[in-house]
Amino acid sequence: MTAAEQRPLAPGAFPEGFVWGTATSAYQIEGAVDADGRGPSIWDVFCRVPGAIARGESGDHACDHYHRWREDVALMSELGVGAYRFSVAWPRVLPEGAGRVEQRGLDFYRRLVDELRARDIEPFVTLYHWDLPQALEDRGGWRVRDTAERFADYAEVVAGALGDRVRYWITLNEPYCSAIAGYAEGRHAPGAREGHGALAAAHHLLLGHGLATERLRGRPGLRVGITLNMSPAVPAGPAPEDAAAARRMDLLVNRQFTDPLLGRRYPEDMAETFGAITDFSFRREGDLEIIGAPLDFLGVNYYYRIHAAAAPYEQPDPARRTAADIGARTVVPEGVRTSGLGWPVEPEGLHQTLTWLARRYPGLPPIYITENGYGDDGTLQDDGRIAYLRDHLAALADAIADGVDVRGWFCWSLLDNFEWARGYAARFGLVHVDYATQARTPKASFHWLRAFLREHAPAG
Ligand code: NOJ
Repeated sequence: MTAAEQRPLAPGAFPEGFVWGTATSAYQIEGAVDADGRGPSIWDVFCRVPGAIARGESGDHACDHYHRWREDVALMSELGVGAYRFSVAWPRVLPEGAGRVEQRGLDFYRRLVDELRARDIEPFVTLYHWDLPQALEDRGGWRVRDTAERFADYAEVVAGALGDRVRYWITLNEPYCSAIAGYAEGRHAPGAREGHGALAAAHHLLLGHGLATERLRGRPGLRVGITLNMSPAVPAGPAPEDAAAARRMDLLVNRQFTDPLLGRRYPEDMAETFGAITDFSFRREGDLEIIGAPLDFLGVNYYYRIHAAAAPYEQPDPARRTAADIGARTVVPEGVRTSGLGWPVEPEGLHQTLTWLARRYPGLPPIYITENGYGDDGTLQDDGRIAYLRDHLAALADAIADGVDVRGWFCWSLLDNFEWARGYAARFGLVHVDYATQARTPKASFHWLRAFLREHAPAG
């Protein structure tokens, strides 16, 4: 235990107006994949690939939030949060990814936002939480530049429908996962294992963010940001090889995204780490200006710290390596606490990430922690989750006390939901979902967080 973990939080540890919320994403909770003209996404297709998802599960039904959204918003009210981060499903709005707009899809989100507003819950909309329309994947997906342009068009359509009632806009959720888990590791949709293609995807995602931001800026008053998963990468041992592996991991997960977004251009070690698998020909003049345009806020998703050790490359021939094959592996050192999913639990990593950002990027925009949470098997007496949340909120308060401008925190997640390749067995909810009956049951952590918010969330 660190000092922060033992110390009770001081009153006033979180500033006036600090935003408290919960987060979800469309494919993970909505279900109703064929309703109201929705088109297929890469996840609908990937879930049908044998062996792709644990137990062959899919988001076909998920939490049936598409029909139960009113009940779910009522749960948020009961919890006492003032904000909700959710994502819009691109294939509900543009079933073919581009062109024809499906009004019924937009109406769903309009009703949801109106219900949130009626209950004084501020919506934070994520435009892309991994559910690319399959029609666009068929034309190359994020490997090709056209997808970035189509994303900007889609952003404009959604802003046209919701821009009068939603202030906070998040372009992308975790482009690292879309690009690397999706196009290099093959663990996520579309299940590709590539080198050049995955790095092109990372670049086009960032470009899509920049192009969408330009369109959103056309509407005065909107606050625009992007959400990145951040994990400090630390060497697993004292060997210089481990330090070098940690640096490559930090590049792969963190810096290849934060540097171009936050005004530093692409890191120099990109060439050294990836030069054998790509010539970066997907980068064009002017892209960095689009990608690096000022943000109103940065969303940070924090779960764990990475301990990196040097490892042999999986593919000895550099020309055939995927972008994730960087000669590094992740280990969980002895003595480090772990979650129900075996992820390291290190609240200090949150403090470390936030202070690193503030040091490395002068003029850093305000930060929202757009996800932070704990996965387990779904027990109702979820003491592990309570301890995780308590300790991470203490670490967050420390970062704020150290001067990092953090404006809000969102718990992942309101509900147990479809945890991607792990399916339904890994549960992150404050509320338990019985998938056979769709019954929602608040867990001990829900009651704990409600009491915490009463004590620490200053009114207004
Ligand atoms: C981050 C992702 O944004 C979310 O979709 C996922 O469920 C959580 N991490 C937990 O793994």
